[in-house]
Amino acid sequence: MLSSTLDSLLIGLLLSVQTNADPRYNVLDGANFPDPSIVKVHGKSYAFATNDGAGHNIPVTSNPRFRKASGWSEITDAFPTKGVPAFEEGGWAVEGTTWAPDVNHLTDYDGSFAMYYSPALQSNDAIHCIGLARSKKVEGPYNDSSTAPLICPQEAGGAIDASGYLDDDNKRYILYKIDGPAANNGGYCNSPDNPPSLNTSLMLQRVKHDAATTIGGPVVLYNNRGIEDSYNVEAPTIVKSKDGIYFLFFSFGCYSDNSYATSYVTSTHGIAGPYGKRKNLLRTGDFGLFAPGGADIDEKSGNVVFQSSKTSGTIDDGRVLNTGKIILKGRSASLK
Ligand SMILES: *[C@@H]1O[C@H](CO)[C@@H](O)[C@H](O)[C@H]1NC(C)=O
Ligand SMILES: *[C@@H]1O[C@H](CO)[C@@H](O)[C@H](O)[C@H]1NC(C)=O
Repeated sequence: MLSSTLDSLLIGLLLSVQTNADPRYNVLDGANFPDPSIVKVHGKSYAFATNDGAGHNIPVTSNPRFRKASGWSEITDAFPTKGVPAFEEGGWAVEGTTWAPDVNHLTDYDGSFAMYYSPALQSNDAIHCIGLARSKKVEGPYNDSSTAPLICPQEAGGAIDASGYLDDDNKRYILYKIDGPAANNGGYCNSPDNPPSLNTSLMLQRVKHDAATTIGGPVVLYNNRGIEDSYNVEAPTIVKSKDGIYFLFFSFGCYSDNSYATSYVTSTHGIAGPYGKRKNLLRTGDFGLFAPGGADIDEKSGNVVFQSSKTSGTIDDGRVLNTGKIILKGRSASLK
């Protein structure tokens, strides 16, 4: 009796903690590395993440042999905020709230690096907006001397999860999410009894080669489908296949439980869409992972980074960094 109770306890424990021994997953040995992004520079892959609660505003690690999975460098801080005007008193960004970085190599501009990030506003710390920090070196230190965020629809809940994209026609874009839930007490995921926050539109904004100056206004690429998405889509990223088809990847569900997962839609009509039938890429249970989402893809190599919860059904034990390779065939994508 006792031993079978112990057995089932043990089995329950094993099932609730990520134990996958595949070297592509949890590559940083349990380190908290949420909302990862990837950029490849001179053959070396760099991964960045949301502030980790372990002293890094923007954790960064690199690996010269991405496919080997092992060999990620010690995590350092790409964005120390001391002496950074945006974070000073009278600036606009709150230290320790630096979400969802995305680093872009401005090969079409001056060869420097531009990092989008989404900190809380000093004027209202329930709202996050998109800022831009720059560095001559990919690993930082980044600096932001702006006096205001780059994109900030504050009434709509702010904007987060920016991602830069340079198309092969040399046009540059920013993708982001309207953060409706932030204007609605965290929305459905934080408090399911609240009126749902319907607007989590994934937006596309064209910018000049400086990665900052906007050209025209934003367009809506995709919004959530209501309750089946927990009224939430986020973390957009675009890659174009060799056949010229645009793949818009995004996460949906509640990031703090096992509903969080990754979908995509495709467009044969150009980057602004319309995007067609939705398909799933990754969900809880795939590869033994919990809440796999926040994917970012290096278009040339197909290298992918994404997060998953260390423990089933909660992010309290952190979100770990996973890697893979995206395979695009026709209008379908899969992860290897
Ligand atoms: C960031 O840039 C501003 C403006 O150029 C400069 O005054 C400040 O010292 C820089 N901060 C750091 C940490 O380099
Ligand atoms: C969501 O917000 C964006 C930006 O304010 C707006 O363009 C869009 O129409 C809104 N979408 C819906 C479905 O309300």
